[in-house]
Amino acid sequence: MKSLKQWLARLARAEKLRQSPCRARGTTRRTLFEKIGVGSLLTGIAGLCYAMMRPLVPDVLYEQARRFKAGTPDSFPEGASFLEEQRLFIFRRDKTFHAISAVCTHLGCTVKMVNLNQPKTVQIGGKPVEVHYEFACPCHGSKYYSDGSNYAGPAPRSLEWYKLEVAPDDGRLVVDMSEPVDKNFRLTV
Ligand code: FES
Repeated sequence: MKSLKQWLARLARAEKLRQSPCRARGTTRRTLFEKIGVGSLLTGIAGLCYAMMRPLVPDVLYEQARRFKAGTPDSFPEGASFLEEQRLFIFRRDKTFHAISAVCTHLGCTVKMVNLNQPKTVQIGGKPVEVHYEFACPCHGSKYYSDGSNYAGPAPRSLEWYKLEVAPDDGRLVVDMSEPVDKNFRLTV
């Protein structure tokens, strides 16, 4: 009987000890260390991601001016002129001008202008049109008619047309690449 009392007393003491503040402090300390560990791990992962992604972001943004001056109208020959830096075709027919982007609407490669050996008649906007050249993208094979309408390959839409105007101060052509225009747009000087 006495030993049963002693055993119960020992059990009560053990239970008291288990619920003691020291033990609670131990639990709190362990939780704190776990939190520090998780925090350090997340910081390490974030640092690793930054180190991997940083080279993909350029230090300088090379953005084309969306509005710029090209030459005077007389400086453009009849037919097409390609402005390499702006990736733009400017077409002249006598005193009339229009501009078509050379940026493929699929993934942005530069399209090439291809003169056709034989003119061909195609349907553009539901009308038969005789074309002498077209545009072809070297990357994935998209093709565009001479007005920029896409007709083959993965390109989802036509090449952009941009607004042209004459600068009042020096008479040069101004190209506004921030403002796509309709395919009927023409500037007559
Ligand atoms: S970028 Fe021109 S077809 Fe893909």
